[in-house]
Amino acid sequence: MCNISKPIQHANVEWRNGQPFATDFQDVYFSSDNGLAETDYVFLQGNDLLNRWQSLTFNTFTIFETGFGTGLNFICAADLWLKTAPPAAVLQFYSVEKYPLTLQSITQALQNWPQLSTIYQPFLYEYPQLLQHQTVALFNGRVQLTLLIGDATEQLSSLSMNTDAWFLDGFAPRKNPAMWQPALFEQMARLSTPLCTFATFTSAGDVRRGLLQAGFDVKKQAGFGKKREMLQGKFVGIAHD
Ligand SMILES: C[S@@+](CC[C@H](N)C(=O)[O-])C[C@H]1O[C@@H](n2cnc3c(N)ncnc32)[C@H](O)[C@@H]1O
Repeated sequence: MCNISKPIQHANVEWRNGQPFATDFQDVYFSSDNGLAETDYVFLQGNDLLNRWQSLTFNTFTIFETGFGTGLNFICAADLWLKTAPPAAVLQFYSVEKYPLTLQSITQALQNWPQLSTIYQPFLYEYPQLLQHQTVALFNGRVQLTLLIGDATEQLSSLSMNTDAWFLDGFAPRKNPAMWQPALFEQMARLSTPLCTFATFTSAGDVRRGLLQAGFDVKKQAGFGKKREMLQGKFVGIAHD
């Protein structure tokens, strides 16, 4: 499978205290307080992954992320998977990214987390390949990573697959409203398994209403760091008001 129909448009990034900042969106890639703790709290705990993976009865588990960015969410998910999931099971991690970081930028960003170097080094080695060929297998095949380059809704619309958990990232909705549209939530519903969950750092009203409308049960919970609230929930398949 080949990923490149048009040239890749890389992200424009500046560095603030060693952390990447997206100049086109005027937003951070992760919390400046503690990106690692944020990923753990919002996306891993928000989707109850530890419990689900410790008691996994399937051979595969599929995560879909909107906004690959620095790959931090992927690295943390892969780390938890390798520590908790049955050795014969495979994590299929799909992520869509409209403006991928260059190899140099993603390397610089991930070097903020030396405690995860055994996970991110094999990933960085494969990153140029990933940008060209879409899918790479890592950690003796226990993790399969697919990076779809393009707009989230457009890419989801062309897929047919089952997703067990969604990581809804993609910059704050008020800074990137184009991504957080009803069409995205409708595609999520189409690709969700009956037990599928989602989690996102935002609690924006439009996002909450869009997810409800598409058939997700949506709960507000305490947000990470300075954020008051975030959203998490599951697919129930019945649209709510
Ligand atoms: C907050 S960052 C994601 C951080 C990332 N999950 C991580 O672990 O580092 C948001 C990402 O969404 C991407 N993005 C913005 N709009 C998008 C769209 N319409 N489709 C796909 N990706 C988009 C940005 O380029 C950026 O990389």
